[in-house]
Amino acid sequence: MIIRGVEIVNFRNIARAALRFSPGANVVTGKNAQGKTNLLEALYLFSLGRSFRTRTLDETVRFGEEYFFIRLSGESDAGVAFDIEAGYERGGRARVTAGGKRSAGFADIVGMIPGVIFVAEDIALAAGPPAGRRSYLDYTAAQLSPLHLAAIREYAGVLRRRNALLERAARECAPAAGLDAWDEALAAKGAELVRIRRETLRELAERAGALVGEIVGPDAGFAMEYVCSFAPPGEDAAASFRGALERARETERRRGYTTCGPQHDDVRILLDDAEIRRYGSQGRKRLVSLVLKLAQAATILEKRGERPVVILDDIFSELDAETSSRVRERLSGGYQSFVASPRPEELGTADPGTSVFRVEGGVVEPAGEPPAGPR
Ligand SMILES: Nc1ncnc2c1ncn2[C@@H]1O[C@H](COP(=O)(O)OP(=O)(O)O)[C@@H](O)[C@H]1O
Ligand SMILES: [Mg+2]
Repeated sequence: MIIRGVEIVNFRNIARAALRFSPGANVVTGKNAQGKTNLLEALYLFSLGRSFRTRTLDETVRFGEEYFFIRLSGESDAGVAFDIEAGYERGGRARVTAGGKRSAGFADIVGMIPGVIFVAEDIALAAGPPAGRRSYLDYTAAQLSPLHLAAIREYAGVLRRRNALLERAARECAPAAGLDAWDEALAAKGAELVRIRRETLRELAERAGALVGEIVGPDAGFAMEYVCSFAPPGEDAAASFRGALERARETERRRGYTTCGPQHDDVRILLDDAEIRRYGSQGRKRLVSLVLKLAQAATILEKRGERPVVILDDIFSELDAETSSRVRERLSGGYQSFVASPRPEELGTADPGTSVFRVEGGVVEPAGEPPAGPR
């Protein structure tokens, strides 16, 4: 996918912008708090279906204004043009129009512009809390197929309703009527979610393994495995989940929420045959986090047959020179990228296809000169 251009009105501190992008690297530069991340956030709305920084779009409307508007145009790898417009009015719902057709909102366009994002916090992906690895899996799965996205949402929906029922029963000290039916639904949707995550992890692990092999060496001892909190591999996940719910029933009634399920699962990552979370050095943890993101891009490219847009928000200051040059090398292998950095000179020699944009106080302008290479 290539984003050719964007028009922005009233998004964060960007009052107005109309930009044409390079199909290769796009470098966004400027001092801190000028609007670099704001620009990336606007672009990534169309991949994630929401902001990567906030749950409330109200926050993204320019101070003192009532609405924002963003229009994105470009083409798929097969050369099919797209044109998506998104408008949001404070306190209202987003209106999204793709190819002249209205969709219900941002949630409907998840995956339309496949994308991969690296932000500074992603450095903790490999060794940080499990929630990050679960979202990584779920987001990848959603980018691969709308059916995956639907399954993820269905599980979340059943879980939410079951929790509401338990919460009410606990508060009113009443029996949770109809819980059996919810258990059945939760077990079925939960098993499906685990199946999708395992399948997605297999794809990711294959590509991450190849990358680690190239970077660390053939004996890197790398592996990733899904750790289901209620069903060992090979066991019927729905039956195990039902069993776990049965055992947890009294506790759940007392506490008023669901205590087991795929919302507690994790991915175990091994390097040098040892769990990286416990035994990895800081440098290894960062490296593997990056590899996970690169594997995500490669998986989306190969399974969907569409190059994801890659967004890097100010990550190079977190990495040593060798790792950052590796990342850049991988990206120049054919992804369109958007790279924000207050110090573009750190990005090394720009290739001729690079466009540079300077951001100051929310004003984004194409810069004439590419960033200087190393002296
Ligand atoms: N809704 C908004 N309206 C106007 N300005 C905003 C809004 N949200 C954030 N900002 C401003 O955007 C700036 C931060 O922009 P950001 O893109 O995060 O900076 P950076 O260039 O460091 O990435 C801050 O000055 C902040 O006040
Ligand atoms: Mg920023």
